[in-house]
Amino acid sequence: MAREFSSLRNLDTPVKVLFTGYLTSVAVGYLFALIQILFTHGMADGKFGLSIDDIVYSYYGNRSGALLETKLNGSMKENAPEKERFAIIQWVRDGADEDDYIDDGIEKIIQTRCVMCHSKGAAIPNFNDFKVLKELTKEDEGATFGSLTRVSHIHLFGIGFIFMFVGLIFSFTETSTVTYKCLAIGMPYVFLLVDILSWWLTKLHPMFAWLVIMAGTGMAISFLFMWTVSILEMWWFEKAFVNARGERSPQWSVVVESKFRELGGEDALLRLGAIGKQIGLFLWTKWLSHGLPFVKSLFKTKK
Ligand code: HEC
Repeated sequence: MAREFSSLRNLDTPVKVLFTGYLTSVAVGYLFALIQILFTHGMADGKFGLSIDDIVYSYYGNRSGALLETKLNGSMKENAPEKERFAIIQWVRDGADEDDYIDDGIEKIIQTRCVMCHSKGAAIPNFNDFKVLKELTKEDEGATFGSLTRVSHIHLFGIGFIFMFVGLIFSFTETSTVTYKCLAIGMPYVFLLVDILSWWLTKLHPMFAWLVIMAGTGMAISFLFMWTVSILEMWWFEKAFVNARGERSPQWSVVVESKFRELGGEDALLRLGAIGKQIGLFLWTKWLSHGLPFVKSLFKTKK
C-alpha cells in the first residue's frame, strides 16, 4: 500500500532520536506511575499487591464502620468489658462529640482501659490526644470529592497529552492497517475517560472497582503496543518486518485479520452485532413505552 506520508523508518535520524527520547522518558514515567500505584493503592487493604479490595478501599472506603468500632469488635475486644465497649461504640455512632466524650464518661473508660498502651511514645495511636482518637471515629469514606476532582483533571490533561504524542508518533508507522491504527490511537482515550469515570462510580458503589482495573489495563496495553511498534519500525525495521529473502512480511494486522476470519470470528462479530441491534431496538421501544412517560410524569408531579 503506497502512502503519501513519510513513514517512521524513513525519518531523519535526528527526528528518530527525538521520538525515541520522548518515548523512552514516558515509558520510564509510566513505570514510576505503576510503582506508585503499587505502594499507595496496593497497600490500602493492608496487604502488598494490587487487588479489587485495594481499589474499593481507596475510592469507596471501608464503610463497615469507624476503625475504633471495628477494633473494639476485633483485636481490642479483650481490653474492655462488654458494657464499656458498647458505650464507646454508641458514642462513636452518635458522632463522637467532644463534650459527650467527658459527659458520657467515655474519657474515663479510655483512661482506665486503653491509655496504658495507647499513650505518647507508643507506636500505636495516643489516646491522650483527643484529636487522634477522634480521627479513628470517622467512617472511612475513601477518596474525597476534592481529591477526586483534583486527580481527575490532572490525569485527563496529563495523560491526554502523553497519548497525543505517543499516538502522533505511532500514526507514522506502516506495519498496521489504517483500521488497527485508528483503534490503537483511539483506545487510550476511551480507556482514559472510562478510567476517570470508574473512579467516581467506585466512590458511589464498590461494584465498579473492576472497571478501574479493566480501564487501567486497557490503557497500558495500548501504550505498550504503540510504543513497541514505533520503536521497532524506527530502528529495527529490516530485522522485524522484512524476511530473509528481503521481502516485506505481510502487515501483522492482515495476518491477524485473516486468522480471525479463518476462526469464524467475523461471522461471530456480525451475529453479535445483530443481537446487539435487537437488544438496542428492544430497549428503545421499552424506553418509549415506559421510561419516557415515567420521566414525564415525574416532572408533572413536581409542578
Ligand atoms: C495491652 C495494650 C493495649 C490496650 C489495653 C489497648 N490497646 Fe488498642 N492497640 C494495641 C496494639 C498493640 C495495637 C496495634 C495492633 C492492632 O491493631 O491490633 C492497637 C491498635 C488499636 C487500634 C487501631 C489503631 C490503628 O491506627 O490501626 C484501635 C482503634 C485501638 N487499638 C483501640 C483501643 C481501645 C478503644 C482500647 C481500650 C478499650 C485499647 N485499644 C486498648 C494495644 C492495646
